[in-house]
Amino acid sequence: MDGNERALVGVIMGSDNDIGVMRQAVSTLKEFKVPYEVLICSAHRSPDRASLYAASAHERGLRVIICGAGMAAHLAGAIAALTILPVIAVPLSSSPLAGLDALLSSVQMPPGVPVATTAINGARNAAVLAVQILALWDPDLTESLKAFKGKMAEDIDEKNKNLTALLEGPAKK
Ligand code: RP5
Repeated sequence: MDGNERALVGVIMGSDNDIGVMRQAVSTLKEFKVPYEVLICSAHRSPDRASLYAASAHERGLRVIICGAGMAAHLAGAIAALTILPVIAVPLSSSPLAGLDALLSSVQMPPGVPVATTAINGARNAAVLAVQILALWDPDLTESLKAFKGKMAEDIDEKNKNLTALLEGPAKK
């Protein structure tokens, strides 16, 4: 992000080991030219940092917070408890339970404290959803999203054109 731009989306994650997946959120925000900030921040290992981050996020200008965490993932819920901003959880598959643990601990929030939860490792969708929220008040982002949807449809059209060749070609996994 340009140093002069105020971040609109915060991307936080519980561990540097989460970067592999969470970089997809960052690259997607870049694609849409949305200013963002990134931080490692753990609900369990650095609870004070997490609390301060959540409590100051709105007044610092953030509009959406994306939280990636694995195992007994409490980051998104802990952040959501302390802010009025929309919070999106990305459950990560960093444990022997392959992310099911993180999915369940992120998605089952009590009434009054919502967390929008993506698929396991769904960092790209977290960023697309954040862009969709911001686009409600931003006509340029609305146009970018329309182009993004259009491109996905065109890609499918292209694949249909090549379907015979694909069927006759080498098997793909
Ligand atoms: C969670 O525990 C993190 O989000 C990470 O996915 C998982 C394991 O963390 P590390 O031990 O790899 O740092 O808090």
